[in-house]
Amino acid sequence: MSNGFHILIVDDEPNMRSGLAKGLAKEADLIETAGTVNEALDKFDAGNFQLVIADVRLPGDRDGLELVSLIHERKPETTAIVITAHGTVETAVDAMRRGAFDFITKPVDLNLIRQQVAKALNHHRLQAENRELKDRLADAGEISGIIGNCAAMQDVFLQIRQVADTDATVFIQGESGTGKELIARALHDLSSRSSGPFVAVNLGALPETLLESELFGHEKGSFTGASRQKPGCFEQSRGGTLFLDEITEIPAKSQVDLLRVLETGQFMRVGGEELLESDARIVSATNKDVQELIDDGTFRDDLYYRLNIVPIQIPALRERREDIPMLVEHFLNHFCQRHNRPPRKFADEAMHVLTAAAWPGNVRQLRNVMERLVVTVTDDIITAERLPAELHPMSRSTSGGVRPLVEATEAAEKDAIQAALAAANCHREETAKALGISVRTLHYKINRYGLH
Ligand SMILES: Nc1ncnc2c1ncn2[C@@H]1O[C@H](COP(=O)(O)OP(=O)(O)OP(=O)(O)O)[C@@H](O)[C@H]1O
Ligand SMILES: [Mg+2]
Repeated sequence: MSNGFHILIVDDEPNMRSGLAKGLAKEADLIETAGTVNEALDKFDAGNFQLVIADVRLPGDRDGLELVSLIHERKPETTAIVITAHGTVETAVDAMRRGAFDFITKPVDLNLIRQQVAKALNHHRLQAENRELKDRLADAGEISGIIGNCAAMQDVFLQIRQVADTDATVFIQGESGTGKELIARALHDLSSRSSGPFVAVNLGALPETLLESELFGHEKGSFTGASRQKPGCFEQSRGGTLFLDEITEIPAKSQVDLLRVLETGQFMRVGGEELLESDARIVSATNKDVQELIDDGTFRDDLYYRLNIVPIQIPALRERREDIPMLVEHFLNHFCQRHNRPPRKFADEAMHVLTAAAWPGNVRQLRNVMERLVVTVTDDIITAERLPAELHPMSRSTSGGVRPLVEATEAAEKDAIQAALAAANCHREETAKALGISVRTLHYKINRYGLH
């Protein structure tokens, strides 16, 4: 095949080197091999490689991960794939954070590697095209529409800017209404894929039978009711971003299918025979505690690793109350304009209630409350009495009073963990055992509730 691609294979085992070189001979015009990091760098500098495949474990004091970093320092546009022993997926994830495009686990499956290499080279070609396109576009500037001044949100913005223009999969975690979809859109808008489609699919809302067809499409007559061919989300999002919302809701079988597509970059329509290429940046989101779902076996950890290359955690609104005044002002102005009302303000006391409220529905709830107030209150200054009862501290008093379920459950959970920690003298393994959860989940919850 003459495609102009040059591949460098780096592995200390001669058999592995020659096996891979042979197996991949058809994928590139030139394949060279190296056994050490130094040899690899020499060859890399002397040649013109688009793809480097490197074993993580290499002799000497520098490993394959460092090689990936060094190569990207020299030529950031180089695509890298690392090979890692089975069971060390974390290393591979680390590699992807350092800029590797993909990873392969040993023992090596040549067919799978061929597909992964084809996908990597395709990616390389697209990146080159994208770079050209981007040079012609103006700087995207501020992250539009997302409000947040607290340190945690500033961190989220920084992450968005850093990863928007890569193809790394992003996994967004946050409670309902914290802005997960907004962030997914920002990632798309700030990427060189922004002229392509943004396709959002809510996987939680789909019955199992429709899910496959929704994701991969179907051929005419592939099942009752399939009266014509229909492209799925993977097809529709080509050249753009695919947002998989409520990803943790999908059944086990679909998790396997999805993992396969992410690994190979290929899929088939339901009832179809043609292998189609996927070319979408994947962003997924959940409002669940993924670690818990992995621990109890409902969500596959290998799929999670694939999706979670760049994790973005959005804190609940009650964990960043300093953002509330800004959000209030933003939505107040927005809805006053939209509904043709004169500008409004909140009395100090009302502002106190707003900043102290529990906001179980997060920013979405705040937005809805602002719209309701703009429409229903005619005073220029909105006083605390005008605020809906759901916001007043009375409605969430502890003893017997009504309060949002999330809050009640969390308070009970926090108490239980605190008591168990005390009983076990802060011994984490014992505490986890007593609570019937994994140590990882315990750690997560300790951090979350600040129980250090
Ligand atoms: N930081 C923010 N700044 C401005 N608007 C926000 C912010 N966060 C959320 N919103 C707004 O709040 C609403 C809910 O946001 P979004 O739909 O992105 O939440 P979500 O996390 O996807 O929720 P769910 O889990 O229920 O799907 C939207 O109208 C969104 O524009
Ligand atoms: Mg959403």
